[in-house]
Amino acid sequence: MCGITACIGTENSVELLIDGLRRLEYRGYDSAGIAVKNENGISVTKRVGEVSELVAAVEQNPISGTFGIGHTRWATHGGVTDGNAHPHTDESGRIAVVHNGIISNYQPLRAELESKGHTFSSETDTEVVPHLIEENLRNGASPEAAFRAAIGTLSGSYAITAIIGDEQAIFATRSGSPLVLGVGDGEYYLASDVPAFIQHTPRVVYLHDGDFVVTTPDGYTITDSAGRSVDRPIEYIEWDPETATKGGYEHYMYKEINEQPGALRRTTQGRLNTHTGGAELEEFPPGAFADISQIHLVAMGTSHHAGMYAASLLNARGIPAYAFMSGEYSVIKPPVTPNTLVIAVSQSGETADTLDAIRRARAAGARTLALTNVVGSSMTRECDDELLLRAGPEIGVAATKTFSSQVAALALLAERIAEDYNGTKSPDSRELIDALARLPGDVQEILDTSIAREIAIEYEDSDAYFFIGRGSAHPVALEGALKFKEISYEHAEGFAASELKHGPLALVTPITPVFAIFTGHEDEATLSNMKEVQARGAPVIAVTSDESREVVEFADHVLTIPDTHPEVAGILANVQLQLVAYHAANLLERPIDKPRNLAKCVTVE
Ligand code: G6P
Repeated sequence: MCGITACIGTENSVELLIDGLRRLEYRGYDSAGIAVKNENGISVTKRVGEVSELVAAVEQNPISGTFGIGHTRWATHGGVTDGNAHPHTDESGRIAVVHNGIISNYQPLRAELESKGHTFSSETDTEVVPHLIEENLRNGASPEAAFRAAIGTLSGSYAITAIIGDEQAIFATRSGSPLVLGVGDGEYYLASDVPAFIQHTPRVVYLHDGDFVVTTPDGYTITDSAGRSVDRPIEYIEWDPETATKGGYEHYMYKEINEQPGALRRTTQGRLNTHTGGAELEEFPPGAFADISQIHLVAMGTSHHAGMYAASLLNARGIPAYAFMSGEYSVIKPPVTPNTLVIAVSQSGETADTLDAIRRARAAGARTLALTNVVGSSMTRECDDELLLRAGPEIGVAATKTFSSQVAALALLAERIAEDYNGTKSPDSRELIDALARLPGDVQEILDTSIAREIAIEYEDSDAYFFIGRGSAHPVALEGALKFKEISYEHAEGFAASELKHGPLALVTPITPVFAIFTGHEDEATLSNMKEVQARGAPVIAVTSDESREVVEFADHVLTIPDTHPEVAGILANVQLQLVAYHAANLLERPIDKPRNLAKCVTVE
């Protein structure tokens, strides 16, 4: 949603803050700003637009400071203007605050502050915070007490950092929005996500909701809301800082598409037993799922498509499983029992709707499991169990490698759950495990040979792009369309192939290419659908592994995937579709890593 950075104890805080913002720009890119402390007080520079606009402003009017805070915004309250950009200050300009999240009770707070004479200069919810702190200072509170008391009046979700008066300190807290502390050698960082400072220190403290942090050049303290000291371990992040850079690629998204073989290797490492032909998850020893009678998968966006995919794998093993958009889960209120396992699928582990869904599920007595890429994220803390993706950092807003890793991890999980549920391995478990072991190599083969760019060029001037598939290929069709529309801004829709005749066929014309996904499952029926759209003049691009079959004969083009287990074929087909979307967007010169109006992590409902 929004990205926060802060640093203290460093040299050149302006440069470090701006560098951190660049690395967090995937979280929001409507506007950016920094506030730094110097001998004259606090200097603030903020601008509408990408971080590059902020850089230009700082170059024109240089500022300096020994420590500071920064923010990249994805607007929620108030339009995209310089005035609404963070940091926000009080009237005296002696307090500066940045915030990620939503303060739901800002209106009454603002009205009360205005009645006490405070003048507001923005339309944001955030601006109440510096004024609240100022009010508390006026009433005689110390800076830390003023900060705590201000936070104590807020409802909603927030991660907040602040500079207050002459204190050589940064004050921070979180509740429902991410915030991590980086511990360097006499240097301390606060950020919404680790990539902001990983090049300076690999030592990270994952803060919990309700934690208050005060960092000075001499160290830091973490306390709870009552002021009691809390002990949070320092964890060592093993990423190569290069993994959070573009590493020579034009876009993060293309880099991350190309990183999939390595990501899949890490996701499956130590989890595939090719001798027994079974899945081995140390987190879930035999019997761990013995009590489970049904499964709900809750997620949004790409993660929802992975959840749908997993539901089809679980159903195929005789396990009642349903995928829900987490944003709908609390509305639909599907019945849960203590024997219901609710799996939250989330790259970030922070998506507000998904957090809300698991909270509801827990309150109703269900068991919860977080499948996420982010160590220490809110979901890992709130769920009963966690399974980490280990895909490495994903910066491009459009999720790519994490989808492949999610499906691979969910296939392993489905197999593990099925062993407990059915008392035995699935009949083709060995074939599935072998296919997952081959998967990194199969993905590499696609990356090396794909003709996706040629397809993107051939159909560049189309009216709309449709994607169809059956069974586990249905979520792949949805994901193919999602990727295409979010980065190219072209109209793209995914359908269950069976749905085609019930409406979407009316949209099919000679200038609407149709991508038909064949995964070796009910392919005959999808072939009929392919012929139906061809009969209406639409070109068909088949994504298939079977070059010898009728599909190849009838398709206008083929995006080939290596022969594999049908339950794994969808991951391969999706890689081809990621490449088509990428090249189509690149031809149109779209801002691929930062599509308009979107953000990597949506921490508001
Ligand atoms: C946003 C992102 C998507 C992502 C979705 C769910 O919409 O732009 O790429 O799939 O959130 O995010 P999560 O972190 O929960 O997987």
